[in-house]
Amino acid sequence: MCGIVGYIGNRDVVDVLLKGLTNLEYRGYDSSGIALNDEGNIKIFKALGKLGNLKGLLKEQEKNIIDPVAGIGHIRWATHGSPTEDNAHPHTCNCGKLVLVHNGIIENFKDLREELIKKGCIFKSQTDTETIAHLVAQEYDAVKDLKKAVTKAVKRLNGAYAICVMYKDEPDKIVVARKNAPLLIGIGQNEHFIASDIPAVIEYTSQVVYLDDMEVGVVKKDEFHVYDVEGNEVNKKIEKLPFEPVALSKRGYKHFMLKEIHEQPDVIRNVLNGKLYDIDEKIILNEVKIDKETLKNLQRIEIIACGTSLHAAMVGKYLIEDFCGIAVDVEASSEYIYRKTVTNEHTLVIGVSQSGETADTITAIKQAKKKGAHVLIITNRPDSAMAREADSLIPINAGIEVSVAATKSFTAQLMSFYMLAMFLAEIKGSVPKDILKELKHDIIQLPTLIDEILTHKEPIQRCARLFANTKDFIYIARGINLATAYEGALKLKEISYINATGYPAGELKHGPIAMLDESMPVLSILMEGKVYEKILSNSEEAKARNARLIALTSSQDKTLDDLFEVVLRIPKVNELLSPVLASVPLQLLAYYIAEFLGKDVDQPRNLAKSVTVE
Ligand code: M6R
Repeated sequence: MCGIVGYIGNRDVVDVLLKGLTNLEYRGYDSSGIALNDEGNIKIFKALGKLGNLKGLLKEQEKNIIDPVAGIGHIRWATHGSPTEDNAHPHTCNCGKLVLVHNGIIENFKDLREELIKKGCIFKSQTDTETIAHLVAQEYDAVKDLKKAVTKAVKRLNGAYAICVMYKDEPDKIVVARKNAPLLIGIGQNEHFIASDIPAVIEYTSQVVYLDDMEVGVVKKDEFHVYDVEGNEVNKKIEKLPFEPVALSKRGYKHFMLKEIHEQPDVIRNVLNGKLYDIDEKIILNEVKIDKETLKNLQRIEIIACGTSLHAAMVGKYLIEDFCGIAVDVEASSEYIYRKTVTNEHTLVIGVSQSGETADTITAIKQAKKKGAHVLIITNRPDSAMAREADSLIPINAGIEVSVAATKSFTAQLMSFYMLAMFLAEIKGSVPKDILKELKHDIIQLPTLIDEILTHKEPIQRCARLFANTKDFIYIARGINLATAYEGALKLKEISYINATGYPAGELKHGPIAMLDESMPVLSILMEGKVYEKILSNSEEAKARNARLIALTSSQDKTLDDLFEVVLRIPKVNELLSPVLASVPLQLLAYYIAEFLGKDVDQPRNLAKSVTVE
């Protein structure tokens, strides 16, 4: 959702801003804009829709851009006010001397807007952001100093903001500030970059400073300073970026999603690295900062997450309960935050998030912390706001995930839960050593088994072609693969817009069966193990209602070919590990259906990679 870029230095400012915005495109947006401080004039360019439109506009206007010294840019995902050019950022004040871009939501913007209108401010948009522009401009009139004006203004804002501000008469600087929304300063030689996320600057620098809440930064060409809101300078730590620029290339794949699906064997190896050395050795998880005695006596865990991360959490619950006998509740963050939860200092609360920026999950873990719980965060972004809240932090090391539809991060989250569940089981002594040893052996084989699936994609492609024009889909499973069914259905919905729903197979006859006929395919996840026969019976029930059947199975049983129209086979694996393998063909099925339908696979409509609003 929304993205911010800023630049001050000797490079082509427009080029840096556009490249930065292009690298943030994956976050999801519906309009874009930049502002330049050019030869003593503020110039604003905005366009609706994809960045190509802004690029086209800038090409047309080339002759009106002379020699900009600094610039700020933004991609907007509409929250307050529909996607229009007027609502696109940057926003300005009455005199047009000040320009500002903003990520986040200002909760008290209505009161501020009324107050500012009474003072003569003329609003041109419906956004909360324009309020900040007028507010800073008002303060500027009084103090005649951009840093002081921003510092005074942000004290009046409730909610979340990352802002980047330029003022016509102070062309040597960009002033930035943040609260509950990420913002970083990229450090170069006689140049500085500003961004809401790493991909915007990764091409130019690997050294960054992350702004913390309620800090204000003054960024110039050859220096930058960060202050608290009382005006005291803060000594900031320069950090090295965790990713390489190559992470942003498709490396020959048609889409990032396909590339990321293919990265999964390596992602698994990365997760195992340093945690699982040998099948005879215990799992090492130094990231868990709780003493062994407390872990041994742990009675209750809550896992909170959204979307795909929530599905990984469901597998986590299954594993921890199965291995350790600890009661685990899994809940969507957006539900957790609006009820009285039974969370206290004896609860371990696990927050799971690819981005580490999901607003609902951040709020939920903050609530849990207030109640005294130890908060463990499992995330792909150890540099994120959520990671900063963590008492214990398990980075999943999946590398930047660009496709909006999560794939490799899901696998890495699953793997992290296997590590955690086995780590806890070894501390509690709740699973016999030989069983854990066997499991470790099987875990080490997973990358090779996924490679096998990835080298035989043709049956999945054929299945995708066969079912691409279907309007609805049901995915059924039981046990540990119920979450796989939910995740498979979510993937299909997200990128193909086909109505797909995951159901516990046993629930089919309690309602959904009424929908079944030849127009409703049922995909059964049939992994050999405890519930295989049960799901087979549930599939028979569907067949009796004329549903077209697809099996995703580890079984070599040839009679399945009589019952199912399509049988997608994956290698045999311990049932407990089967979600890792079963997810891959489901990701591919969704991918090929969406690709066949000509959908925008990496940036599906209406979706954002990081959902930074509640
Ligand atoms: O970054 P997070 O894992 O916290 O994001 C949670 C969801 O927004 C995310 O998983 C979403 O459902 C993805 N689009 C799934 O593909």
